[in-house]
Amino acid sequence: MHNITLIYGDGIGKEVVLSAKKVVDNFNLDINWEVVDIDYKKLEKNNNPIPLNVIESIKKNKVALKGPTTTKVGTGLKSINVAIRQELDLFANVRPVRSFKGLKNKYSDIDMIIVRENTEGLYLGLENMITKNIAQSLRIISKDKTRAIADFSARLLKNKARKKITIAHKANILKLSDGLFLNESKDVLFGHTNIEIEDKIIDALCMDLVLNPCNYDIILAPNLYGDILSDLASGLVLGLGLAPGANIGLEYAVFEAVHGSAPDIAGKNIANPTALILSAAMMLEHIGYKKEKELIEKALEDIFLEGKYLTFDLGGDLGTKEFTNSLINRINKLK
Ligand code: NAI
Repeated sequence: MHNITLIYGDGIGKEVVLSAKKVVDNFNLDINWEVVDIDYKKLEKNNNPIPLNVIESIKKNKVALKGPTTTKVGTGLKSINVAIRQELDLFANVRPVRSFKGLKNKYSDIDMIIVRENTEGLYLGLENMITKNIAQSLRIISKDKTRAIADFSARLLKNKARKKITIAHKANILKLSDGLFLNESKDVLFGHTNIEIEDKIIDALCMDLVLNPCNYDIILAPNLYGDILSDLASGLVLGLGLAPGANIGLEYAVFEAVHGSAPDIAGKNIANPTALILSAAMMLEHIGYKKEKELIEKALEDIFLEGKYLTFDLGGDLGTKEFTNSLINRINKLK
């Protein structure tokens, strides 16, 4: 029996989480969901972004499927997402980006994985006002965390039969912090055999990603760059509705889409659940159900190639629930 923590989040969270759950439940696997709610009011009242009940449940179950949670801009509580990742030491954020044939993509052969260091950098949120008019944010890059994420990306490359790792950095300007990230990453990657290694300055990488996205295989990046790159890359394959992700640590794993709570479309049954369904597929592989993961991917490939059953963001007219049902029908035909 696999006990899995299920977190709805807010905004479109519950809509897409329930879709992904329905797709997983359709396989009748040995899975027991433990739904845990984030008590936003309590966290805000205590000015503490760490949801202890969620942490406790994930520590017990080891695996979670999570919807997005809103973080106020420029004010309010620190990010609950970041708090969960740091509290559970989910140091590797794995974000695959691929184009599906049949969709109106500018590029039809994008297939890359962005591996982002997930627990330090600017996301430590160490900020203060030096004077009334000057704010300061501390960016920490450590040798240990860098070596851990570089080693993770090398192992991922081998597991997924990939070839090349591109290290993203700005070591021309941030000579110490990004210099350390670049040098330590290279040192770890050179220790693994048969990896093609390159490095690119983050601004030039952004341009090249837009012009030549098919040249990229695995991109290894510090926290903030990885976050920005993964949204950029999702735009190359028609948007956040298609971008899944996983937060992996040595003990725990939390699977969630790249996208946020999308308040502009929440509660309207129009969110594309594909990103969270693909995140759930990654979760299934993680707990040993590789065949089911592949079935989900194949069914999505077929549906997108056919082009008849699409959500609004992809130019179709199907709602979240209706799209989920057509996907399940397709999976059942493939079984
Ligand atoms: P967002 O990712 O929520 O939305 C950006 C745009 O993409 C919006 O136009 C939205 O409608 C669209 N979009 C997102 N997901 C979609 C889907 N499944 N189907 C169709 N369209 C989709 O980013 P935004 O608006 O910057 O952030 C909203 C909130 O989400 C913020 O409070 C942010 O902090 C939070 N957030 C949470 C994350 C998490 O919980 N892991 C990750 C990213 C943002």
